[in-house]
Amino acid sequence: MSSQSGESGVVSHDKNNRVIIFDTTLRDGEQSPGATMNVDEKIEIAKQLARLGVDVIEAGFPISSEGDFEAVRRIAQEVKGPTIAGLARARAQDIDRCWEAVKHSDKPRIHVFISSSDIHLQHLFKLTREEALVQTREMVAHAKQYCDDIEFSAQDATRSELDYLCQMIQAAVDAGATTVNLPDTVGYTTPDEYENMILTVKARVKGIENVIISVHCHNDLGMAVANSLTTLRAGARQVECTINGIGERAGNAALEEIVMALNTRGDFFNLWTGVDIGQIQKTSRMVSSFTGIPVQPNKAIVGSNAFAHESGIHQDGMLKERRTYEIMDASAVGAGDTNLVLGKHSGRHAFKKKLQDLGYYLEGEELNRAFFEFKQLCDRKKTVTDRELEALVIDQVQNENKTLYRLEQIQATSGDKSIPTATVKLVAPDGTIVTDSATGDGPVDAVCAAINRITGVHCVLSEFNITAITKGIDSMGEVAIKVSYKGRTVSGHGAHTDIIVASARAYLQAVNRFVQMGEFADESGADPYRRDEFGPLAGTSRAFGR
Ligand code: KIV
Ligand code: ZN
Repeated sequence: MSSQSGESGVVSHDKNNRVIIFDTTLRDGEQSPGATMNVDEKIEIAKQLARLGVDVIEAGFPISSEGDFEAVRRIAQEVKGPTIAGLARARAQDIDRCWEAVKHSDKPRIHVFISSSDIHLQHLFKLTREEALVQTREMVAHAKQYCDDIEFSAQDATRSELDYLCQMIQAAVDAGATTVNLPDTVGYTTPDEYENMILTVKARVKGIENVIISVHCHNDLGMAVANSLTTLRAGARQVECTINGIGERAGNAALEEIVMALNTRGDFFNLWTGVDIGQIQKTSRMVSSFTGIPVQPNKAIVGSNAFAHESGIHQDGMLKERRTYEIMDASAVGAGDTNLVLGKHSGRHAFKKKLQDLGYYLEGEELNRAFFEFKQLCDRKKTVTDRELEALVIDQVQNENKTLYRLEQIQATSGDKSIPTATVKLVAPDGTIVTDSATGDGPVDAVCAAINRITGVHCVLSEFNITAITKGIDSMGEVAIKVSYKGRTVSGHGAHTDIIVASARAYLQAVNRFVQMGEFADESGADPYRRDEFGPLAGTSRAFGR
């Protein structure tokens, strides 16, 4: 019986009750509009996911672009602990490319998918049901030649006819899949319906008892977490999710919500994970900073208000006994007050140690540069908080690529009677220093216009958010922006005590993302970074070898 007091997680740590956490922040999460990350950012996140204790990291979709391939390859090579998975459509070219990237991991996984719903098969894949079954069998077997650990996904499972879905899962199991995933691709199902699907697959597919059943939920109707949890009770043992619930459209099931539901309501679920919940908050902040997607204040577990108490009655209750109004301990997930940490007199050793506590393992030149920036920050403000240190390091990781434009100096003027003007000095990718000036509606607009003139990338600022990182007039400002160019949107992030400098950094970072994409443009001028939303590549039937 539940103790009904919260934090009642009494769970038997039995192997059968262990839930595999499959994190797809770097693949499905990156499909959030504007969330494109560069390789260095993805590696930082992957390392943090490993510290968080996820079991599987889906690092990307290697055939979709050179950038994705490189990210998956490097994560496979550099990130130890979790299984590293790459996504591949059910076609040989995708699978071969995926293997080339994941093979560097000690624990590689190929994740093969095809759709099982008629609407997808007819319109997206132009395949008959029978052809899709053949392709499932052949492509899972093809992937199996490379490695043992094969996941098969029946995309749009929840809108598929159940009999046919079972046939497809049977084909995948027979061909050697070790995990079968039943995605709610469009966030359409309900808990009862989804539970029935899992029970049906368990009852009808031969050999399913030797295979892990996985679920993957999108949040279009706000039911992604509830749907995921229900299926875990019905016997699914892998759950696919993302940090902060980012992902296509309304996003994916949020990892932190699933993990904390299992953890807090152990009395009800009797399931457990290998996640170190103390890492949740810092992982959330890192993902938010790198993707430029802010966390809404009322977001469960990781929102800034998740543990805030406003009303008098609640505050009174909290003072008397925390559990009157709190079912989780904020400090257990790494949340709570931002502690004042370092200052002007802090040494290099303490600085390095503090960064490691925050999840950033800098060495050599990287550490020197961060320490220099930190000392400069100490000249502008007395004490530096954890959040400000994080912002400083994230800024560095995002701006250290010497093959891109770097900000050397900016100067901006504004006022109610003057014309806002900015002069910007950048170091160009070839090392030359370029200076230009521009006017604008305000100082930020003028800075962006000057950067456009220098780089020749004439993007448009579509979203601009600024937040004070801590309380106090000398707080660093954190700027998160979205910038559009030729129909694509990317994010940028910058932090500084001067908000115009923070804005310039954020904008330049976004411009650099477009510059980087240019590097990979193929001769036809097509943008290989653009994913084709999981449909077959151009020329459908050719892509599927028909
Ligand atoms: O939502 C979905 O169906 C997916 C699959 C590729 C697993 O992301
Ligand atoms: Zn998905």
